[in-house]
Amino acid sequence: MAQNKGEHSRESSKSRRSFLNILLGSSLAGFVGSILYPVWRYLTPPKGPGEASPTSVLAGTVDELKPNSGEIIKYGRKPVILIRTEAGEYRAFTAICTHLECIVQYRPDFQHIWCACHNGHYNLQGINISGPPPRPLEPFKVNIKEGKIFVSKII
Ligand code: FES
Repeated sequence: MAQNKGEHSRESSKSRRSFLNILLGSSLAGFVGSILYPVWRYLTPPKGPGEASPTSVLAGTVDELKPNSGEIIKYGRKPVILIRTEAGEYRAFTAICTHLECIVQYRPDFQHIWCACHNGHYNLQGINISGPPPRPLEPFKVNIKEGKIFVSKII
């Protein structure tokens, strides 16, 4: 009986040791992974729509944006404001305010671009007209093709 008890204790100690080895091994693998994954992400270039500087992006279809409205779209990794004026013309500018880089928005009540951070105003040519912004917004080209809106950089 005493021999059986000793055997049981050895078995239990062995399974505890193997459990601890598995736990230690998986913790080590997690630790190494948490170091290597960010390095790997840093070294591999982004793909597809997240591309740093695309030549043109599809911003939607003409019926999606009503006159006297605007929306923020992604141009690579940068925000761009796409506007449809009251007259129905499309305009696009970088959406990063030239003051302290807040994201601007279209204000239908003003019928121009506005930055909420410090009450900066830009007209529909992207020119800073009031408030602290020191420079105009960078303009983008808008092309309509078969009902689709394409935004591209002006070269
Ligand atoms: S960040 Fe736009 S007005 Fe200051």
